[in-house]
Amino acid sequence: MAGRLDGKVCVITGAGGGMGREAAVVFTGEGAKVCAADVDAKLAEETVSLCSGEAFAIGVDVADEAGVRSMYAQTAERFGGIDVLYNNAGISPADDQSVLDTSVGAWQRVQDVNTKGVFLCCKHGIPHLLERGGGSVINVASFVALLGAATSQISYTASKGAVLSMSRELAVQFARRGVRVNALCPGPVETPLLLAIYGGDPEAFARRQAHWPTGRLGTPREIVNAALFLASDESSFVNGAAFTVDGGITAAYVTPE
Ligand SMILES: NC(=O)c1ccc[n+]([C@@H]2O[C@H](COP(=O)([O-])OP(=O)(O)OC[C@H]3O[C@@H](n4cnc5c(N)ncnc54)[C@H](O)[C@@H]3O)[C@@H](O)[C@H]2O)c1
Repeated sequence: MAGRLDGKVCVITGAGGGMGREAAVVFTGEGAKVCAADVDAKLAEETVSLCSGEAFAIGVDVADEAGVRSMYAQTAERFGGIDVLYNNAGISPADDQSVLDTSVGAWQRVQDVNTKGVFLCCKHGIPHLLERGGGSVINVASFVALLGAATSQISYTASKGAVLSMSRELAVQFARRGVRVNALCPGPVETPLLLAIYGGDPEAFARRQAHWPTGRLGTPREIVNAALFLASDESSFVNGAAFTVDGGITAAYVTPE
């Protein structure tokens, strides 16, 4: 049976865990050739061992320009070009909180990975897509780019807002050259990143759960299914979107109960 990503070469950052790992497994299962990139090379290798199709691992910090450039060069050399950038790597450290309490250092670390990382992946990845005559860029933002919260993670929220607006601008700039750019905005998803934030605090979990129309977290697969659509040609007219996959959170004023 034909795969939905047959013949496509995809670079997935943050592929050592959570949604990035899930994406590498699903994308290779759909016929893609995948570069699984993560700051933790060992985790990226583990991901590759779970993939059914052609994949290789690279250890790279997305905040490091030389590393990002080399990640794309190695992928293009190995697979003959690149069609999809899935810019998924992101961090949400515990010391990123209210603007009143967050240090400049904590602010900067998040900006370096989440904002500069996406900038560098677009800067050095898009030229490879242009060489192929087009492609798809999936920049992972978040529902927090669209909604505010009193339980703030100020740098994370600002970084995801930047990813969203950066994606819109790139979508317009490259549309006539065949490159689509969308910002994937997941709602809260059951991954180590989020479980670490809620870690052992049922009250914090319950406070948030009250705002979720579905009453539950998303699964990594539910987000990756949307990324699969954005990566494939099925989404050929989807460009510049804030593509929310959030169980209805951004639609909700009050929840059903
Ligand atoms: N989990 C959620 O609820 C949620 C909601 C909305 C958006 N997101 C976003 O989705 C993306 C994936 O989140 P996740 O929950 O799967 O995260 P995760 O923590 O489970 O996995 C993130 C991966 O990124 C890697 N990574 C961290 N810093 C890196 C760097 N500098 N360079 C390369 N790789 C690096 C980590 O090693 C890890 O393997 C992130 O951008 C996150 O902000 C997550």
